[in-house]
Amino acid sequence: MRPAEVVTRASDYLARHGVESPRETAEALLAYFLETDRAGLYAREEGLDTRTARLFGRALCQRCHGVPLQYLTGEQQFFDLVLGVAPGVFVPRPETEVLVERALEVFPDAGTAVDVGTGTGAAALAIKRFRPEASVWGTDLSEDAVRVARANASRHDLAVEVLHGDLLSPLPADLRGAVDLVVSNPPYVTREEYDTLPAEVRAEPYEALVGSTDVTRRLVEEAPAWLAPGGWLVLEIGATRGDEARRLLSRRFDRVEVLPDLAGRDRVVRGCLRSSS
Ligand SMILES: C[S@@+](CC[C@H](N)C(=O)[O-])C[C@H]1O[C@@H](n2cnc3c(N)ncnc32)[C@H](O)[C@@H]1O
Repeated sequence: MRPAEVVTRASDYLARHGVESPRETAEALLAYFLETDRAGLYAREEGLDTRTARLFGRALCQRCHGVPLQYLTGEQQFFDLVLGVAPGVFVPRPETEVLVERALEVFPDAGTAVDVGTGTGAAALAIKRFRPEASVWGTDLSEDAVRVARANASRHDLAVEVLHGDLLSPLPADLRGAVDLVVSNPPYVTREEYDTLPAEVRAEPYEALVGSTDVTRRLVEEAPAWLAPGGWLVLEIGATRGDEARRLLSRRFDRVEVLPDLAGRDRVVRGCLRSSS
């Protein structure tokens, strides 16, 4: 059977199991196992060998049981960077590209940036990609995330230093008062919201998702000690948290703004360190 027909059958199977975007999912998985792209998939006449058919069938089954597509292919694109992902590490979302864009608007070309809770390294690596002169750091409490982020930095040959530990505490002491940008997509789902999330989201690490406003609150308290005069804190927020985030940042930051994502929902809060802070 030609791959194009395999895609049609697989997409029917995924649809019957309630998987979102079944055709795109079938195409992405089969392209991954055949080591080709979408065009190559449809151009190919030759059928699947037994081993590929078995691996593909198993992946379809796992996807139906809530395993995220990115854990099956091991990759997720973020801007133009194809990032390695792995179970145990948060999969970067397109909304976080908005966080990076908003952060870059207030970040000097050769500045120093720290991405707190870097996960795969997505935001840190994108900042370094767009600002090659910058000095960029990432931190994460998860050892798996640190390992994956370091591998992604080498994969793209981007000099980003990734450190293991809580928030800003693993940074070298000489960065105190010298950071121009603290950026973060912290865990912001509440315990109650977590219970309502789809299985494929709950397949991602709990600590990467659930945090309510705790991490945001701590960053508002701890970031000022690391920021240079005029430095910025730029955070991703849950769509219903705009007002609360504005109130929190206003304690220590000026020029506080809540900014929307492409769908018009509150997604980013940013503020500039108050000079008396
Ligand atoms: C929502 S994920 C975001 C990952 C990545 N920045 C992204 O946008 O794809 C949150 C990340 O914060 C990390 N994290 C949670 N609490 C932390 C803490 N106290 N200090 C450092 N990292 C933390 C988690 O391990 C996870 O990788």
